[in-house]
Amino acid sequence: MTEPLLRARNVSHTYSRRNRVTPALSGVSLSVQAHEFVCVVGDSGSGKSTLLRILGGLLTPTSGQVQLAGNTVRAPQPQIGFVFQNTNLMPWRTALENVLLPLELRKPLADQDRERARAALALMGLGKFADAYPSQLSGGMAQRVTLTRALLQSPALLLMDEPFGALDALTRERLNQELLRICHDRRQTVLMITHSIQEAVFLADRVLVLSGQPGSLQGIIPVHLPRPRTLEMLTRPQAGALISQIRACLATGAKQAARQ
Ligand SMILES: Nc1ncnc2c1ncn2[C@@H]1O[C@H](COP(=O)(O)OP(=O)(O)O)[C@@H](O)[C@H]1O
Ligand SMILES: [Mg+2]
Repeated sequence: MTEPLLRARNVSHTYSRRNRVTPALSGVSLSVQAHEFVCVVGDSGSGKSTLLRILGGLLTPTSGQVQLAGNTVRAPQPQIGFVFQNTNLMPWRTALENVLLPLELRKPLADQDRERARAALALMGLGKFADAYPSQLSGGMAQRVTLTRALLQSPALLLMDEPFGALDALTRERLNQELLRICHDRRQTVLMITHSIQEAVFLADRVLVLSGQPGSLQGIIPVHLPRPRTLEMLTRPQAGALISQIRACLATGAKQAARQ
């Protein structure tokens, strides 16, 4: 097996605020191979967002280490892109201007950058909305803008924290299909957090199950469904078996946590 793009070794984190101490994550080790799509599932409070922030260099773990392409991650890196549930779009900037913002912060914009951003928005089905303001966009469209903004940086690794969690089921399904198509075309490496087991099975090459409080890794489940994936595949017995396996894994972790 080749050296993974991302590797976390024995990562633990405890939040300390005044006299309140919250252990959030305990001894998590994981790796993500280049071009792999990994999903992390876990109950609310199992440390998913904490893990994602640590992997992306936004938070320093209490102990343990994270490496991207062999280099220790200690701060946010240009090679890592983020998409959060909250779209963080600037309301006074158009979709195009929002997409261009990270680039603009680094260097003066060229016409070529604007063209590239317009083309990227068009590819996401937003060609007609490049000059619209966030208030004129639906939730699904706004999240497409955020995704376009992240992908335009050509990040080596895309980290997503429940990106479609606030959207209705149909929009979410459609966005997941587009996400898969785009990531497949670009061979994008992705680590995505979701609390939907179905979503994880539909998207991922491997599903990591985080459970307990503090959260620890309860299982790593490979998903051998063929690609390109279709929603129909979720109705196959193979998918049903995977979903049951992930549920069982979550339940075991929860039971262990209750005993402690
Ligand atoms: N900034 C913070 N300060 C203190 N405690 C926090 C902070 N962020 C998260 N926590 C706590 O850490 C635990 C894990 O939270 P989080 O990583 O957000 O879980 P998840 O994303 O799986 O819901 C929870 O008990 C939460 O209350
Ligand atoms: Mg979270």
